[in-house]
Amino acid sequence: MKAGKKAKTSLGEYYSALQLRTDRWTALRIATEQLTQELSDRRRQEAERKIRSLMEVLYPIELYWAFPGHDTFLRIGALLDEGRVEALANIVRNICRALMSNSYRRNPHHHDVDELIEGSPDDESNEKRGKEIPYFEVLFVDNFSPVQEANLRRTMASMRRPEDPFMYEPVFVPSLTDALIAVMFNHNVQTVVVRNGLKLESEQTLEILHRYMSRLDEDALQDVEPKEYGPELCRLIARLRPELDVFLFTDQSVEEIAGADLGNCRRVFYNQEDHLELHLNILRGVSDRFEAPFFNALTQYARKPTGVFHAMPISRGKSITRSHWIKDMGDFYGMNIFLAETSATSGGLDSLLEPSGPIKKAQEKAARAFGAKQTFFSTNGTSTCNKIVVQAIVRPGDIVLVDRDCHKSHHYGMVLAGAQVVYLDSYPLNDFSMYGAVPMREIKHRLLELKAAGKLDRVRMLLLTNCTFDGVVYNVERVMEECLAIKPDLVFLWDEAWFAFARFGPAYRRRTGMHCAALLRERYRSDDYRAAWAKYQEKMADADDETLLKTRLMPDPDKVRVRVYACQSTHKTLTSLRQGSMIHVHDQDFKDEVEQAFHEAYMTHTSTSPNYQIIASLDVGRRQVELEGFEFIQRQVEQAMSLRKAINHHPLISKYFHVLTVAEMIPAEYRKSGIKSYWDPEHGWSDIAEAWGEDEFVLDATRVTLSVAGSGWDGDTFKNQILMDKHGIQINKTSRNTVLFMTNIGTTRSSIAYLIEVLVKIASDLDERLDDASAVEKKIFERKVKALREDLPPLPDFSCFHDAFRLSSGNGTPEGDIRSAFFLAYDESKCEYLPIEGNAIEKEMATGRELVSTTFVIPYPPGFPILVPGQVISQEIITFMRALDVKEIHGYRPELGLRIFTAAALATLEAKPVIQAM
Ligand SMILES: Cc1ncc(COP(=O)(O)O)c(C=O)c1O
Repeated sequence: MKAGKKAKTSLGEYYSALQLRTDRWTALRIATEQLTQELSDRRRQEAERKIRSLMEVLYPIELYWAFPGHDTFLRIGALLDEGRVEALANIVRNICRALMSNSYRRNPHHHDVDELIEGSPDDESNEKRGKEIPYFEVLFVDNFSPVQEANLRRTMASMRRPEDPFMYEPVFVPSLTDALIAVMFNHNVQTVVVRNGLKLESEQTLEILHRYMSRLDEDALQDVEPKEYGPELCRLIARLRPELDVFLFTDQSVEEIAGADLGNCRRVFYNQEDHLELHLNILRGVSDRFEAPFFNALTQYARKPTGVFHAMPISRGKSITRSHWIKDMGDFYGMNIFLAETSATSGGLDSLLEPSGPIKKAQEKAARAFGAKQTFFSTNGTSTCNKIVVQAIVRPGDIVLVDRDCHKSHHYGMVLAGAQVVYLDSYPLNDFSMYGAVPMREIKHRLLELKAAGKLDRVRMLLLTNCTFDGVVYNVERVMEECLAIKPDLVFLWDEAWFAFARFGPAYRRRTGMHCAALLRERYRSDDYRAAWAKYQEKMADADDETLLKTRLMPDPDKVRVRVYACQSTHKTLTSLRQGSMIHVHDQDFKDEVEQAFHEAYMTHTSTSPNYQIIASLDVGRRQVELEGFEFIQRQVEQAMSLRKAINHHPLISKYFHVLTVAEMIPAEYRKSGIKSYWDPEHGWSDIAEAWGEDEFVLDATRVTLSVAGSGWDGDTFKNQILMDKHGIQINKTSRNTVLFMTNIGTTRSSIAYLIEVLVKIASDLDERLDDASAVEKKIFERKVKALREDLPPLPDFSCFHDAFRLSSGNGTPEGDIRSAFFLAYDESKCEYLPIEGNAIEKEMATGRELVSTTFVIPYPPGFPILVPGQVISQEIITFMRALDVKEIHGYRPELGLRIFTAAALATLEAKPVIQAM
């Protein structure tokens, strides 16, 4: 079955059906209000026609939502037919208000048609009638008659008890397709009840709704047998929204259903209609996600009276309340935070270093939520998580492949672990002075090179940043699959510092470490894979390296081990206090091979006084994403998309600025789908699903890179002097001619509107300034723009490690011992400085001397090391450094010059290499 069989109405200007819904309700409110005014017959008829056509679009949309609900919607039509224009305007106004303010979630009376016509449900009096408990919607999937639907609605409502912790309303859809649309569209759905009578196809023809179907894998809906619809739906929901609870009613025998894969189905009911049992199960499922064990333990601890006879005078706020000088701190933070500050690990609390109580439970819940086998919390950011994983996995002398523009914590991790490092070059974006990501071909080439040199047994780990700071996202599944075909037990560390949210966006999830680990694990167990591999093996028996580089490789199912780690800065993209991060693990060999070493590494890097507030915020952050991550991420993507469109098509802003498109950030060879931009005036919105399924790299839409070259300001000046100083807008990253706007789950429509307003203001000021400028001033401006657009030094590739720091120089593989170089530089007598101005460097090079860096040299921007300890300094790097006009270069002291090893120091090393393999 394919979406698209029926004639569809095209609504290409809307990125999502949510936007369309909001827009149509607003238009309906305006049109119904208009009808209450004195109008000529012609205007009245026009207004009525408009109302009917708006309702035609809204009708299929509203079938998927509990509020305002089907009956209410029909009543709106009836009011129009009856000519009750005041009542009509009133009900539509009240629905719009309730939708905008979300008050329908708090007030059960909003679901009553008469209340909506007569009352003003936003009143405080009405609000108070409703109990403020969390609200959600339950999707019932069955081909109900209207009478059956009304009966079930009534029965489920009668199950409500005052002590229920949550309130829910049912939504009814008749088919598997409708159910899939509903779970992708209606973010209020937390639970799905799949019943016997469901059909396959949807009757609805609105194209924008069917777009959700294209986000399923191509073959997901092929060959679904009629009696299989129920179990199939359970499986599909697990793929799309794994966080949802699903209950299945079946009339098949226990034996038949027991062996079936039912996705995340919580419970199967055998044809019984025990509604109370169902009601209790629905509540229990949501409670399970809602419960935040460590946060709860901490709030309870804070309420208990305790006498403190150990460290932490701030605990219970004692040192503050008794103070004459720091009371303002107490006033600012409030008492709760101090009541919750303690160094105790008992009394209902737990120890992060040896968790056995609520922290252990909180980590288990996080593992479930993020699709990991094990999850570990960290209170010192992903910088620490990265070092923990590297230390746990890598032994001195092991070879690790790392993207060179990775975060500095990895480079330091390599030093600490004593790894032999192979730096991988990302594709450069020279026009914007930034890097993309490491192409598949480069990774395979390095692995094959190491294989040819007989070193594959020492290759331990591949470490990549996904997504990159600028939003380039790898095809994680493909990278792991092809690498495992060359080295079947390779360990992957995905630095997902910027990608914690991705699990909760269905398209994004497909490119996360944990999702792909589970997917590959399942794949390699299957008979289908085994059969495909047998054929592949026959075909590839004598393949040479070039063929291997060009072919999509498949690992041997008998040898492959799935070993994946992902480190996420929860605090960067989800709700958590600063430094709250998580390590997620899906490693088949964790228990046998890693657990002990991981424990040691965790102890090495974790404070014995971890911050409880950070841990509690990680626990609550997990609760939030499991219950509303899907909604928040959908909205975030929508807002980022609107921002892109608004900037690139605003006549004034686009004179000076433009948002880099997918095509500008990802070269065509990595975009099989052919996608060029997320929106263009000719075709409207592109559906990103195809690109996210197939392309080697995709662009995270939530990161918006703005080219500022046309304004004549470089990225840094624009960030500090224009955005920050003049308009109070903070951003993080810049390149020579770009700035990066990051949206997050807290970004609101108003903040987007404010940013656009500011850009309009900046552009109109520029316009005015240029209008008043003299011919000379205009020329200077044009020169600046040209320089920012064209005079960009090419980004240098990694040169190589000096032979003194290479274990087996001469046989062509590039790994180097960064640790020896790092510590050798502690001896000042082995180091000297060369200025980069003048020609001192060239003079030395001309003598044939290899200049070797003692240290990391990191210019900001671009923010990655252009030199690492032990690296040979190339002419290309020097040219780049000279061309950089940035003020902040870590590891470089302009008054002294580049710090390099003396020739004598290197000569002694060459005679007797400092490094030895294990
Ligand atoms: C790719 C990457 N990894 C790791 C980190 C460090 O994360 P944290 O700030 O949580 O220590 C950062 C920080 O910006 C980063 O960009």
